[in-house]
Amino acid sequence: MCFRLNVLIQLVVMLLLILEVCGTLTSSLVQIYNDTIFQITSKFEFTNIQCNSLDDDFSGIENCFLKSVNRSYKYLSLKVNLHKKPVSEIKVNVSLLKRFNGYKPFLYNITVDACKFLKNPKSKPIFNYFYSFFITQSNLNHSCPYDHDVIVDRLTADFVNHKITKVLSFPEGDYMVETNWMANGVNRALVKIYGTLS
Ligand SMILES: *[C@@H]1O[C@H](CO)[C@@H](O)[C@H](O)[C@H]1NC(C)=O
Ligand SMILES: *[C@@H]1O[C@H](CO)[C@@H](O)[C@H](O)[C@H]1NC(C)=O
Ligand SMILES: *[C@@H]1O[C@H](CO)[C@@H](O)[C@H](O)[C@H]1NC(C)=O
Ligand SMILES: *[C@@H]1O[C@H](CO)[C@@H](O)[C@H](O)[C@H]1NC(C)=O
Ligand SMILES: *[C@@H]1O[C@H](CO)[C@@H](O)[C@H](O)[C@H]1NC(C)=O
Repeated sequence: MCFRLNVLIQLVVMLLLILEVCGTLTSSLVQIYNDTIFQITSKFEFTNIQCNSLDDDFSGIENCFLKSVNRSYKYLSLKVNLHKKPVSEIKVNVSLLKRFNGYKPFLYNITVDACKFLKNPKSKPIFNYFYSFFITQSNLNHSCPYDHDVIVDRLTADFVNHKITKVLSFPEGDYMVETNWMANGVNRALVKIYGTLS
């Protein structure tokens, strides 16, 4: 039963992805999906975060950590210093990996021109979904160029948990989100966020 449910969820998520590629994903479909599949309660926890600047002339990681204040209050914070401001051409690619026998690509592997996306977030519903995970906790919510440090401040697991389990559902397991940040065509930073859904 559990196995079948996971397969069903994967199929529906794939369908959403195909619809997005075809440009026909509508909010009413998300709504139908939301209403039918979801009364599953899962819990998300961050397990690790790794940040690497791939070009120290361009950017530096000032901080990148998970903090456990107590059992129920855990958060992720990140601050990246940009040394070559302003930055007006950014591409981000986001891949979701799930641990089976090592981390394997799982459903999403997308590249987005961030400056175009920020002008019209609704044009990329799946990317918008990932973006919604952290945007309220970050100073990235404005159009290009960026002429300041990049901050994600105290993103809590609860916040992500709400997005994962209430907006789109995922099967339980260990996940990693790998993001590459490219500016002016060169990969500048790699951020990996690990979490468990149980
Ligand atoms: C955990 O820490 C937060 C922030 O300091 C506090 O508001 C909350 O009451 C604490 N929860 C518990 C169970 O101690
Ligand atoms: C994502 O796709 C690109 C090209 O389509 C590939 O080179 C890359 O390895 C993929 N990444 C993951 C994590 O699957
Ligand atoms: C993301 O960018 C990295 C570095 O440029 C590249 O190795 C990887 O294949 C890219 N993934 C996708 C989905 O394009
Ligand atoms: C981002 O900013 C726009 C315009 O300033 C605002 O309408 C939108 O609600 C913001 N989104 C989030 C998730 O904070
Ligand atoms: C999905 O349903 C929940 C309540 O069950 C609601 O809070 C949430 O806004 C819905 N999400 C979308 C995208 O409709």
